[in-house]
Order: sequence, then C-alpha cells, then structure tokens
Amino acid sequence: MAQAETRHTETAETVEVTIDDEAYEVAEDATVLEAAMEHGIDVPTLCHMEGLENTAACRLCLVETEEGGDPVAACSLPVEDGLTVETDTERLRRSRRNTLELLLSENCVDCLTCEQRGGCELADLAYEYDVDMDQYEGGGGRFEPMTDNPYFQLDHDRCILCGRCVQACDEVRHNSAIGFTGRGMETKVAPPLDRSLTETECKFCGQCVDSCPTGALTAKDRLGAGREEDLETTSTICTYCGVGCRIEFKHTDDEIVDASIVDDPDTAPANGDRMCVKGRFAWDFVNDDERLTQPLIREDGELREASWQEALDYTAERLQEIREEHGADAVAGLASATCTNEENYVYQKFMRAAFGTNNVDHCARLCHASTVAGLGRAFGSGAMTNSNQEIRDADAILITGSNTTEAHPVLGLEVQEAVENGADLILVDPREIEIADDADLHLRQTGGTDIAWVNGMLNVILEEGLVEEEFVAERTENFEALKETVADYPPEKVEEIAGVDAEKLREAARMYAEADRASILYAMGITQHSSGTDNVLALANLAMATGNVGKEAAGVNPLRGQNNVQGACDLGALPDVYPGYQAVDDPEINETFEAHWDADLPEEPGLTITEMIDAARFGTVKGMYVMGENPMVSDPHLRHVEEGLEELEFLVVQDIFVSETAELADVILPAKAFAEKEGTFTNTERRIQPLTKVVDAPGDAKEDWEIVGELAERFDYPMEYDSVHEITDEIAAVTPIYGGIVADRLDEQGLQWPCEDEDDPGTKFLYADEFNRENGLGEFHGVEYLDPDEIPDDEYPFRLSTGRMLYHFHTRTMTGRSRAIMEHVPDPYVELNPEDAEAYDIEDGERIAVASRRGEIEIPAFVTDRVPEGTIFIPFHFAESAANELTNPTLDPKSKIPELKVCAARIEKLD
Ligand code: SF4
Ligand code: SF4
Ligand code: SF4
Ligand code: FES
Repeated sequence: MAQAETRHTETAETVEVTIDDEAYEVAEDATVLEAAMEHGIDVPTLCHMEGLENTAACRLCLVETEEGGDPVAACSLPVEDGLTVETDTERLRRSRRNTLELLLSENCVDCLTCEQRGGCELADLAYEYDVDMDQYEGGGGRFEPMTDNPYFQLDHDRCILCGRCVQACDEVRHNSAIGFTGRGMETKVAPPLDRSLTETECKFCGQCVDSCPTGALTAKDRLGAGREEDLETTSTICTYCGVGCRIEFKHTDDEIVDASIVDDPDTAPANGDRMCVKGRFAWDFVNDDERLTQPLIREDGELREASWQEALDYTAERLQEIREEHGADAVAGLASATCTNEENYVYQKFMRAAFGTNNVDHCARLCHASTVAGLGRAFGSGAMTNSNQEIRDADAILITGSNTTEAHPVLGLEVQEAVENGADLILVDPREIEIADDADLHLRQTGGTDIAWVNGMLNVILEEGLVEEEFVAERTENFEALKETVADYPPEKVEEIAGVDAEKLREAARMYAEADRASILYAMGITQHSSGTDNVLALANLAMATGNVGKEAAGVNPLRGQNNVQGACDLGALPDVYPGYQAVDDPEINETFEAHWDADLPEEPGLTITEMIDAARFGTVKGMYVMGENPMVSDPHLRHVEEGLEELEFLVVQDIFVSETAELADVILPAKAFAEKEGTFTNTERRIQPLTKVVDAPGDAKEDWEIVGELAERFDYPMEYDSVHEITDEIAAVTPIYGGIVADRLDEQGLQWPCEDEDDPGTKFLYADEFNRENGLGEFHGVEYLDPDEIPDDEYPFRLSTGRMLYHFHTRTMTGRSRAIMEHVPDPYVELNPEDAEAYDIEDGERIAVASRRGEIEIPAFVTDRVPEGTIFIPFHFAESAANELTNPTLDPKSKIPELKVCAARIEKLD
C-alpha cells in the first residue's frame, strides 16, 4: 500500500487507521464504516442507518483487511490502531454486484419505471454496480402488499428485508408495531400476527417509511404523484404543535406530494430525526380544493366573491365607521398562534398604531396566559427555561398536565429516551395516558387539585431537608412565605384533598429533589384553571427550592401548544404588552413605541379574548378583526361566543378556509398557508426558525402581513414592507429579547431568545446567572389551594376535562381536511370509565348525551380505564360535538385564562 498522509479528526481519544492507502486519525470507538463516512469515502450500505444499531444484514459494506481472509462488514468492524482496509477492490465489487443481483431477484418490479427512482438507494446501487437484473430467477409476488391503513403501504416485492423499518420503530419510536414474521422464504415485515397496523400500537409517525431504503414503504399520497427526479425538495417548519419540527417536503410548483424527516438531522435542532403523524401525513390540507382563493363579502346573507380592492375598501370603511361613532376601543382583534412572527408583529402594530386600540389578544389566552403571568412573576419571563434536546439528559422528569406523547409527540420521544438513559419519571395526571407506561411513579390526582399536591411535595422536601439551601439563599427571595404556606400541606392532608397516596407523594418528592438535574414539563392541565397562575407559581417554587432552574437539562418547561404561540406572545399579540413583553401602560415604554412607530398609542391595556366576547354580547365591542383564529370552536362556553359574534356590527375574518368563525363573518379575506410563505416561527424552546416557501398559494390568497399592510394604507398609516425580512429586522430593532435576530443571521439552526445583539449566539437555557426580574432574584410565592369553580354535585356528578389527541389539532381546520387523518379518526368521543359505563348501562361506542350548566352535546362513548371513575374526558377538536359547549368560562383573576380543564357535568343514556 502506498505511503499514507495522515489526516486528523478532532476527538479526545483517537487511533490511526489506513483506508484505501490513506491514514486517518479517527475516534477510537468508531466503526470502519463511520471512519470512512466521516472522511468522505463511499462505502455502499443498505441496512445501515445513522441513529440505528448496526445489524450487518445486507452484506454490502464489505471491506478487505490487511490480514486477508473473507471480507468483513465495515458497519460492524471496530477500528483499532494500525488497522488497514481496502473498500473498493475488484473482489468487493464482484461480491456487491452479486449481492445486489440476489436482492433484486426477490424484487419483481421494474426499477426503470419505478416512481421512486432517484430516491431508492437500492436502484442507485444497482445502476452504480451495473447489475444484471435477470441474473437470478426470482421469488417475489409471494405476499399481498400491506395497504390496510390510511397512511402508507408496504409492497413486499420491493422489500429487501434490511430491517431498518423494524429498528426505526423499535429504537427511535420506542414501539414494536412491526417486526419480521414467518421463516426462510416466508419471512416478511408485518405487524405481529399479521394484524392491521391500525390494531397495533402504531402511531403512524412514518419513521419506518422514512427509514426504508427502497420503494417498499411508501406514503399513500405519494403514490402516482410523479417520479422522484421530477420533484423538488424544500424543508420548512411544521405548522402544528410548538415542538417546531423541521420537515422536508417533496413537491411540484403548486402541490405538496410527500413529507419526511430532513436528510441531515443536524439542520433540525428542534426534532432531529423524528416527527409525528401530523407533520408526516397531515399536510394535504394545503392542497385542498376548499382553500379560500378570493375575498368574500356577505350580501343579503350570502357570501359573494369580491376583488381585493373592494373587500379591503369595504372593511376599512366599516371599521372606520365604528371608530368614528363609538371610539377605537369598540373594535377588537385576534392575532394568531399559527401565523408567523412577522404577521403577528404587523397585526398588533396595525391595531395599536393605525387603529388606536390595545384590544389585541390571541389563543395563548386560552392555553398559557397563566404561564406568562406565573413564570413572569417568579422568574421574570414566561417561557420554557430549557431546550427540547436537553430533556433526554435529565436525571428526573416530572410531567404534569401534559399528555406529552399525544400533544407534543417528539418531546414524548425525548422523555422516553431520558428514561432509557436512566432518568426517573414522575407523572402526575388523573388519566392513564400513554407516557404512564414509562413512569416510575404515576400519581392520579383529582382534577383541579394541583396546588395541593405540589405544596405537599414541598412540605416533604422541607421536612426531609432536601432544599438546595445555597441556591435558595443566593438566587431567590421570599422563601419564608413559601415555608409558612407549605407547612399546612402534610401528605396525609394532601391525600384527602387530591386523592394522591401520601407515601407515593413522599416518594415523588424525594425522587424529584434528590436528582441532580430535574426537569418539569407541563402544559394545559396545569394552566387552564381558575387557579392557573398559582398552579404555575407552585411549580416554579418546586424548581427553585431544589435548585433546578438555571442549569442544563432541568428547569420549568411549559410546552406550548401551537406552532407559533410563543412567537405571537413574544411579538405583542397581547392586550397589555408591546413586543418583548414591554408594558403598554409604562409611560416611558409607550413613548419609545410612539417614536418607533410614529403614532399616538393608547396607554390602557386592552381586552382579553373572553372579555372581547363578553363586550360584544353587551354591545361595547361592535367590530372584530380575526386573523387565523377560530373562537367558535376554541373558546369556552360556545353559546356565548356565538351570541357575541352575532351581536357584532361587523366581523372580518382572515383565514385559509371558511372556518366556523368565518361562517359568521361579513368579510372573509383569503390568506396563504404556512407552506406558501416566508417569515419565522418561534417554537416552544424559544427558537426562532425561518420558514421557506414550498409551493405557490392558490388563487389570490395573500400573506397575512401583506393584507394587514394594505388595510393600514386605508387608515392613512402606511405599513409598506418590501419583504418579510424587513419586518424581521424591524422586530429586532424594537424587541430587546429578539435584538440579535435579524434576517441575515437566520439559518436552519435558528436562534433562541434572549438574543440581544448580533454577536449574541442566543440562549439555550435561561437564568444561568440571574433571573430576569429587576433584582435578578427568583421570587417564591406562597400559594394556597382553592377548589375549582365547579365541583361535582348530585345534579352534575362528573368532573369533565378536555384536551388534545394525537391525530387532530386545535379546531381541526387543518387536520379535519386531511384525507388520511379523517379516514383514521373521523369522530369525537368521550372517555368514560367502565364502572361508570356499567352504572349508566352504556356500551362502548354508544352515543350518549353529556351536559353541563352551559349546554349539552351528543357524542359516542369510549369506555376505557384511561379515566378514573367519576371523570370524563373529551378532546376539544370537534365542532360537531364541541367540548367547549360545556366548559366553564370562569377566569383565573390573574391571567384571565378560563377554567377549561375542569367543570361539573352529567351524562345520559339516549333512547
Ligand atoms: S409508523 Fe411509526 S409506530 Fe408505526 S410502524 Fe412505522 S415507525 Fe412504527
Ligand atoms: S420495508 Fe424497507 S426498511 Fe423495511 S425491511 Fe423492507 S426494505 Fe427494509
Ligand atoms: S405536530 Fe409537532 S411533533 Fe408533530 S411533526 Fe409537527 S411540530 Fe413535530
Ligand atoms: S450496511 Fe453493513 S451490512 Fe448492511
């Protein structure tokens, strides 16, 4: 072998290996395949996939070693000092050609006409090695394709039994929905016992589809949608939950045909190589025929098409009339947690500077207003303290009020990875949700008793000397008040209030407090209560008392629901703050914004969503401008919402479909969907990520910021921007926490706020040195338990809770138009414990009535012990059996969030 030149790899421990006559220093724990790949040496593989265990099943990556003998699989050959290998000899090429010919003999499809050509690793290698397709008489055709699920199919004639899909399901998804069945020639990939995938634990995440190196596993919507080589590939950010997954789309100019995880997981810091069923399969609403393409104006009760000019002139005229007659505060507006940061910024600027009111809010009011209020008081700002990928490194995780695997599926996988790495998992949730299977302790508290059990844990922590004294002394204040309050919550008393076993509560307290890095994950089960802010403060107390804030893999982590609910809050789509949580009633701040925006600005905080609806019912709000929100499904006590919206003199709705709210509108303005625009979203971990346009929008739909800008012109307040990037830069100029987030700096990694200037790399976890309060200290708050507003009684004996499910999203405007999702999960349901079902003589699937003091719905019963006796649960997504007909609009006085998570209800068997 020729004299080698040594190249260096930056690792702590390295060895020297020689590959194809060149010497390399490589990590001592690498395989030969990894060493080769790292240095750009092409070794063919089919069964190997980054992130999965090596199985050496395909025998393609064979290499020859200096010792001679049979070639060895590089993917399972560890490097050692002085090892010398050849990767491209004639013998190896012959062997690989032969292996490929054998694989293809089982494959009775014609690679030349296969749609997957260009995306099939097997076909690529077949061409590279110039294989003879007819060398061997093939098998093939033995098995019927697996097509009995709505999402993807498995064509066994294209399967090479490499096992990547089985491993992906097991190792990445922590599931075993598919495996190898049969023996010898009868071996195939299938669910156990050849059942339908819909009868297994499959979550239809598509991880198996993405891992398949051939065309065997293919999304159904991809079939017949064109040859791989004719399609473009563009990655952008998912429009569903707050995880903020980066997704790669295959598309033509105007149609998306497929989605997958990105090729290089390093370009997807929020999700790496994972995503969920919605990101993977529920994008087809973008292509839907019912998309709005033209402005609509209501005339004599009917909607008719109009030009942009007419619709915007009319909208401006009607809004101006209301302002002239009743003042600017007679109009209110809803911004949107699904729109971009730039659109929310422009929208709230329009409402404040062009129209003259602070009546701006959005659906964060209904999910995490109490987080903003609670964490703001305790720490100085209301956001997730740590990052998505830190969860896997925690030593203990406390999940409460979050159905993580369904509502934030990719973060659910992070938790499962942490558990695999040895973390203790404590779940506090009344329901037996999926993540309960991984929990070391599951405390099933009575809904609405959170302050009691958190104070109980703190009582144990204080009693048993588990407080992190140094942290408390140096980084916090008001600890005495906490001590006094939690002294009244011994575990036995908590057991009486919350139904949580006293000993288990002690165990949970020790498990959490004794961990080096303990992370709290919570969501709407904590926030949507009349005590929402106090619930959040209680969790903040727990983290501060044990020193679990301000360090990696710990913290207090509110999981934000919608893709850009964090950004909409950050950018001032709230009635009391400008962008960057700067108070509108602070005269100095107000003056600064007046100068920035060259306008007189109102100083009084405006109305929240629920207050807007009440004001509409009582006639003080006369007009509303709704951008991309659907209060007719998302808000509590829908009968009141409808009454309020119907009372309005003028309602304009800007959306991508005629939503339930748009059905009541006087004007509907067609907007572009996420895949049709640029701008940024801020995910739950405070990461600002850029969107890339994937396809052209249908008809005359415009970007929301363009529409708002054109409306502003009609108010003699020009808001002209040449591009969305100009808005990104304006945001940076007026929003200190976004100060360094200018368009030029944003790549796929995004940046996490606070990011104060252009040299600031952003912040992975918050409060490393000090909290964000004026004195830099975190503040304890003694919070007392109070009963929820409504508790069960003789008339309404059940505790009703509502929430999300995996397959649908928010008000179903998008997932309700996804073919596969609707085939799979078309109907709503109410979860009912078997004991309760028996007591009421109700069968699984039977349609029943559920009523509260506010309304009644009919809905099929799902009899399951996921819910405890006396509790019922309804996913809130379905307008036809809307849980929010029943929910309680009583507000948390501090954050004005409604008590959506608990109210009294009754059930009835229908005739
Ligand atoms: S879709 Fe996901 S859960 Fe289902 S078999 Fe594939 S990897 Fe497993
Ligand atoms: S379906 Fe695809 S990934 Fe699974 S074993 Fe077959 S070829 Fe491999
Ligand atoms: S819905 Fe959430 S977890 Fe699923 S792909 Fe989209 S961002 Fe990721
Ligand atoms: S990649 Fe090594 S044996 Fe398949």
